[in-house]
Amino acid sequence: MGVPQRKGLLLLLSVWLGLARAGQDQSQVPVQPGFSPEQAEGHWYTIKLGATNPSAVQEGGAFRCFMTNIRGLENGNLNITYFHRKDGKCVKEFYIAEQTNTPGRYTFEYGGRIYLTFVVLNHDIAIMDLESHSDAGPFIVVELHGRSLSPGRQGLDAYRQHMDRRGLGQSHTVDLVLAPRCDSPE
Ligand SMILES: *[C@@H]1O[C@H](CO)[C@@H](O)[C@H](O)[C@H]1NC(C)=O
Repeated sequence: MGVPQRKGLLLLLSVWLGLARAGQDQSQVPVQPGFSPEQAEGHWYTIKLGATNPSAVQEGGAFRCFMTNIRGLENGNLNITYFHRKDGKCVKEFYIAEQTNTPGRYTFEYGGRIYLTFVVLNHDIAIMDLESHSDAGPFIVVELHGRSLSPGRQGLDAYRQHMDRRGLGQSHTVDLVLAPRCDSPE
């Protein structure tokens, strides 16, 4: 095969790969194997938050939130309740995470399109990765939630591992256990 033909074939292949990717969800983040939405349901405590831009998860930041509850909806979406602090007060909000064709990956609008991935989900903890695809460039938030306020050594290790994978370190993390909290059990 001559070089020009081969170039054409490569071009065709990359166009095809690009199209195949566009039809799927837009994230490369690994999902909890065997993800079950039922396991995500119920009451949660937010323990740690990490972000590309740490001010987003510091007091007053747009992603500083206390997730308190997840409810599965009949259509497969999730209704996620959380609190955020506004001028020292706790304000309750919710968002609907819409399922994608990958179990454990959802999407919603919050100042742009966000992909939410359950990276780890077990009896004790949930690690959620929020990846924003906006014009402002890539932006990542990693959340550690627990069924109690103590995630255990394994939970903390799993969180640190995923932060490493995302190129985020200790300086990108806030610990919310001792922070002024907003959790009212529902
Ligand atoms: C989601 O939950 C909130 C309460 O936390 C409720 O007010 C809202 O109607 C629910 N939305 C849907 C679509 O279920």
